[in-house]
Amino acid sequence: VQREYANVLVSRPSPGVALITLNRPKALNALNAAHFQDISDAMKEADEDASVGAIILTGSERAFAAGADIKEMKDKSFAEAYTANFLADWEVITKLKKPVIAAVSGYALGGGLELALQADILLAAPSAQLGQPEVNLGVIPGGGGTQRLAHLIGKSRAMELVLTGRIIGADEAERWGIVRVVRGGSVVDEAVKVASDIASKGRIAVNAGKEAVNAAFEMSLAEGLRFEKRLFHALFSTKDQKEGMAAFAEKRRAEWTHS
Ligand code: HXC
Repeated sequence: VQREYANVLVSRPSPGVALITLNRPKALNALNAAHFQDISDAMKEADEDASVGAIILTGSERAFAAGADIKEMKDKSFAEAYTANFLADWEVITKLKKPVIAAVSGYALGGGLELALQADILLAAPSAQLGQPEVNLGVIPGGGGTQRLAHLIGKSRAMELVLTGRIIGADEAERWGIVRVVRGGSVVDEAVKVASDIASKGRIAVNAGKEAVNAAFEMSLAEGLRFEKRLFHALFSTKDQKEGMAAFAEKRRAEWTHS
C-alpha cells in the first residue's frame, strides 16, 4: 500500500514506473520544509519498492518548482541556518539507487532547478524557464546549483546564471546541454516512455551504470575508469549477464531476474 502525502501525488503510470508530482500549486510548488520532506519520503519509498525500476519527478504545467519557499526562510538567522544545518538533507535524490528522470514544465527556479539538476535525466517542455535568481534575494544557490551547473555548462555560463539571475528558456537550456526538450507531445508522457524502457532492463546493470556515470562527477578520470572497470568485471558474477549474453547468442529476448 502506497503512503499518501499532503504535498506530492504518487502514481504508477506504467509497470515499474513511479511518478511523483509536486503538488503545492498555490505557491508554484515553492519548496517549504513539509513539501521537501514529502518529496524526499516519496522518493525513498519508490527507491525501496522492488517493483519500481525508475522514478519520475515532475511538477505542474506552470511550475516544476519556483524555488525554496522564500516566505518560510526570510527571517532565519545565520545561527539558525548553521546550527540546524539548513538543507543538509537536500541531497537525498542523489543517494537513490534507482534512476530519476525530471520532467520539467514552466518555472524551475532556484532550489527548483537545483532539485531538477539532482535527477539523472532531465527532460523539459518548451514552456520550461530555468534560472538561479537567488542573487536577487541577496543570497546564492544553496542546493548544489553553483557546482552542478559549473560541471554541466562550464564556468562562463554558470557564472552568468548565478551572477545575473537571468532566466533561460527551454531552447537555450537545450543548447547548453542542461535538458532535452520534448516538442510535440507531453513531457511527462515522454518521461514515462524513457522510464519504462529503463525499467525493462536488468536492475543490477542499470544501478551499476548510474553509479559509474555519477563517479565521473566525484572522481579523477583515472579513479573513475578504475571504478568503472571493477563494476564491469563484477557484473560477470550476475545471472543477468549470463542471461543477457545467452539471449543475444540464441537470438531471443532476455528474461531478467535482477540477480
Ligand atoms: C514562496 C512563492 C515562491 C517562492 C512563488 N511563490 N514563488 N512563495 N517562495 N519561491 C508564490 C507567490 O508568492 C504567490 O503567492 C504565488 O506563488 C504565485 O506567484 P506569483 O509571483 O504571483 O506568480 P507570477 O507573477 O506568475 O510569477 C512567477 C515567478 C515569481 C516569476 C516564478 O513567483 C517568482 O519570481 N518567484 C520567486 C522565484 C525565486 O526567486 N526563486 C528562488 C528562491 S531562493 P501569493 O500568496 O502572493 O498568491 C531559493 C534558494 C535555494 O530557491 C536554496 C537551496 C534549496
